[in-house]
Amino acid sequence: AKILVLHGPNLNLLGTREPELYGRVRLDEIDAALARQAGEAGHTLESFQSNAEHALVDRVQAAAGDGTDFILINPAAFTHTSVALRDALAAVALPFIEVHLSNPHAREPFRRQSYFSDLAVGLVCGFGADGYRYALDAALTRLAVPAR
Ligand code: DQA
Repeated sequence: AKILVLHGPNLNLLGTREPELYGRVRLDEIDAALARQAGEAGHTLESFQSNAEHALVDRVQAAAGDGTDFILINPAAFTHTSVALRDALAAVALPFIEVHLSNPHAREPFRRQSYFSDLAVGLVCGFGADGYRYALDAALTRLAVPAR
């Protein structure tokens, strides 16, 4: 299967960005670990980060025609703002897991609202960079036993 990993704004700064909240692991390290994990299970994985809402919308739209089977997405700040990115995921109707490094429910009230959670297969949050590994594990399990 083909898995697409999408990272929203400011996640390119992981490693140095508010490390007390987001840890010290860099995004390229997260992506390399995910590609290895997927490869070992016989799947392919591609990662894409953008600070631009339209670029993420365009990448989701492209996923409908490029063989993507499953999406892992950390929409970052767009979690709380982007109807457009939500609508793109609804339009392509690909299953996705929402990932957050921090636990948004333990932070400012404005982070409690997500435009994605009700469409997601599930959520992983609060486990730092490890959360991506857990999310990919869940995705691979689900791909092995199709629910539909
Ligand atoms: C985040 C949580 C969001 O509230 C925040 O805007 C981010 C990162 C996380 O991974 O914990 O940029 O998605």
